[in-house]
Amino acid sequence: MKVIKITGKKELNGEIFIKGSKNASLALLVVSLLSKDKVILKNVPNIQDILDLIEILKTLNVEITKIEDGYIVDSRNIINMSLTSSLVKHLRASYYFMGCLLALFGKCKILGPGGCNLGKRPIDMHLDFFEKTGVNVIVIDDVYYLEAKRLKGCTYEFRQKSVGATINALLIATSIEEKVVLKNVSIEPEVLQVIEAINLMGIDIKLEEDVITIKGRKIKHGFMINVIPDRIEAGTYALIGASCAKKLVIHNFIIGHNMYLIDLFDKSNVKYELSNNNLIVYKSLNLKPVVIETLPYPYFPTDLQQPLTSFLTLANGTSVIKENIYCNRMSHINELNKMGANIKQINNEIIINGPINLKGSILNGYDLRGGASLILAAMIANNESTIKGLKYIQRGYTNIVDNLASLGADIYVDEE
Ligand code: EPU
Repeated sequence: MKVIKITGKKELNGEIFIKGSKNASLALLVVSLLSKDKVILKNVPNIQDILDLIEILKTLNVEITKIEDGYIVDSRNIINMSLTSSLVKHLRASYYFMGCLLALFGKCKILGPGGCNLGKRPIDMHLDFFEKTGVNVIVIDDVYYLEAKRLKGCTYEFRQKSVGATINALLIATSIEEKVVLKNVSIEPEVLQVIEAINLMGIDIKLEEDVITIKGRKIKHGFMINVIPDRIEAGTYALIGASCAKKLVIHNFIIGHNMYLIDLFDKSNVKYELSNNNLIVYKSLNLKPVVIETLPYPYFPTDLQQPLTSFLTLANGTSVIKENIYCNRMSHINELNKMGANIKQINNEIIINGPINLKGSILNGYDLRGGASLILAAMIANNESTIKGLKYIQRGYTNIVDNLASLGADIYVDEE
């Protein structure tokens, strides 16, 4: 088994270039299938989730050509296959094939989505919306049989904001020639990029506050798009930099996508500078504790909650993070406590008492961002740590071990 070995307390120095967004790329690869013309996606990250999704595309007879920093997608000969292989379970984003295959063929058979184990992750709103458009939904043993004689327009209000349900609804709506109005949609930058792509396909779509109006069409043009930088990768490195870098320059940091992080840095006394899509961050002394909650964009994202927990072990006093999105995104707490942290969980609140000088330990990463939080913790800890669960971390961070090593961290992958 491959593990990450880290000897902490090394000062980082240098620069890092943030890659394209994982969650935008996953959605855009599926959106691409809607057009019979070629689609060019640039700035797609080289991570396991993308490679797994591409394997699924190949089973649908989609031709994928790797180009320097992305892919050309050619779905002229796409076929509607049952998607019931274990690969579907590797990914959360496999649910996008539901909306896409319904839009293309009016039916689909697919396993329920996978992804990190963060507690209950229902897709009831996806299905509810499908039904509203005329889709018949049958689920037997986690296999979804979806079929519609005719897809019809509707007005639908999401019960709560959901990135996946918003994008899935858009996928299907691109083929509905009547008007579809979606209320209480997610407005994450990744969703906005899907809207941009749909627009480039020649579809009439507009977003006003959190309401989308869309009128689909049969013929969809090809397009080329540059995937936005991954704001969660950027946030993870920014927190690492604020923990242990003499100076870390983070390139491709879109300030407008990361305001919640800037707010956090202001509140917790992190030293940083912003310039033209760069963040420069410094290891900061006298960090202040914060009280914060995870919420849909533009507020603090759940995907940074776990790295933030590790970071706040450095703050002088008691911090509280309320996790509002996932009921069980807490697998990192026990691991951090093994390192000597003083963290308690009360319901969905994480209470972090600092400052604590963490000590190296043998740690289990159980999910993508949990794994990233352990890397941060090991980098500020005394002595050596061993982190298991590399395969989860590789799902979402391009070359994180090599990147940190090049910045001066004592980190490598070992075989155990
Ligand atoms: N929800 C429902 N019913 C639904 C859909 C969602 O109750 O039908 C609930 C969820 O249980 C959750 C909340 O709504 O409490 C929001 O979930 P959302 O649907 O937005 O999550 P998702 O689309 O499945 C995407 C990202 C996640 C990220 C969340 C929130 C992808 C492939 N995944 O998931 O990314 O945490 O949005 O921003 O885009 C990650 O990158 O580590 C990751 C987990």
